[in-house]
Amino acid sequence: MAMIPKETIEEIRARCNIVEVVGAYLPELRRRGSTYKCNCPFHKEKTPSFTVNDARQIFHCFGCGAGGDVFRFVMDYEKVDFVTAVSVLAERVGVEIVYEGGQPEKSGNKDVLYKLHTDAAAFYHRMLLDSAEGAEARRYLEERDLPVEIIKEFQIGFAPNEWEGLLGRALKKGYEAEQLEAAGLAVPSERGGKVSHYDRFRNRVMFPICDQMGRVIGFSGRIMNKAEKGAKYVNSPETLLFRKNRVLFAFDKARKAIVDERRAIVVEGQIDAIRCHQAGLHNVVASQGTALTENHARLIKRYADEVILVLDADAAGLKAALSSSEIFIAHELSVRVVTLPEKEDPDSLIKKEGAKALTDLVETAPGALDFLVDLMGKQEDMNTEAGRMRVVQSVLNLIRQCPSAARRDPMINRAADLLNISPLALSQDLRRNQAQQRPAQRRIPAPAGDPDHPRRRV
Ligand code: CTP
Ligand code: MN
Repeated sequence: MAMIPKETIEEIRARCNIVEVVGAYLPELRRRGSTYKCNCPFHKEKTPSFTVNDARQIFHCFGCGAGGDVFRFVMDYEKVDFVTAVSVLAERVGVEIVYEGGQPEKSGNKDVLYKLHTDAAAFYHRMLLDSAEGAEARRYLEERDLPVEIIKEFQIGFAPNEWEGLLGRALKKGYEAEQLEAAGLAVPSERGGKVSHYDRFRNRVMFPICDQMGRVIGFSGRIMNKAEKGAKYVNSPETLLFRKNRVLFAFDKARKAIVDERRAIVVEGQIDAIRCHQAGLHNVVASQGTALTENHARLIKRYADEVILVLDADAAGLKAALSSSEIFIAHELSVRVVTLPEKEDPDSLIKKEGAKALTDLVETAPGALDFLVDLMGKQEDMNTEAGRMRVVQSVLNLIRQCPSAARRDPMINRAADLLNISPLALSQDLRRNQAQQRPAQRRIPAPAGDPDHPRRRV
């Protein structure tokens, strides 16, 4: 068992101010008299009962009873064990841990995986900026109008066209192949009963994906050449650190703007998000082509009241907009939907027409309900009863997601207006609908195709 010496733990504790640490996770933490307060991250609430006490260096929630010192907070928030929590904070304050009784178990240790990702990102970034092999990637990014300041801000990199480009260097640094495998950076292969490893990412432009604290936890790698075989993007697999259905690309860089504006803009591609940030839209994150999940909704809900979905105008994009709207509405977020001009994405739109073209679309975007009625109206014949009923049913499905009656009410009125039905009739149908199918039991059907990438059939 790896042990951290007691003195080291106390040194780390002494250097970590709990207000700063908690504030890094929960930027909405505000001073209120002698303590700091915000909504509790450990249970659902609307009025803050989560407090951090600077003088006593503890946190306590009067709502759910969670509480403890700075280590406890990191353990509970990150769902890690004590040793990992201490090492996370050690890194933050620059204290080196010398373990008693050997290093902690290696490949299953989050600490090592974080370190490995940090090193890998630095390696790819260096390869892009300085190496001869990186020339094509530099040219590619230049052609895509991604200047060096942006490359640095997002730590964009290049994975060389070698089987052991990263692996070889990592092994020299003392990492083990199994650790790279656990990080999703190397892939095992078996030949003649012997297991060897090779780099997952080869000859690709590399986009590091960070968690909300800004730590690199995965990568998305893009091919530079259309003629090349293989998927346009290769992503990190699910690992101990990287859970695709929890991560939003650029969230760490967008968080402050999201808190300030109380709203988040969600685009699909990482280059779209990067372009938005470059153009001065800082509250933008990217879903990276996956379906949005409850985890994404919870993450955004901690910082924002409103989400604006910016999706492709194709059929898959529209469908995704609807299921995402339901999820966000179920988490008491207001949703508006931007439909882009055909064949454009935020990147191409901003490049062609400037950031204002996109902000104009954002400012005038219809609410999810209007969007739905408009969309269904185009698909259904509103002159037939069957057609009308299908539209009504979809509208009820959306409104039903909303847990708060106070929020549901204006939605009913609006829908009644749009559909030319009385609000009373609509709310009666809604009640009947709810009785038939409780929201908790409802499942959004899994989309067909690649579960990791549901919009694209593989
Ligand atoms: N994506 C993916 N795997 C693929 C294709 C796409 O993971 N094979 C994800 C990527 O995160 C990508 C997003 O889905 O950014 C949107 O895909 P797409 O619209 O095809 O790409 P763009 O973001 O427009 O990328 P680019 O501009 O580089 O073509
Ligand atoms: Mn694009």
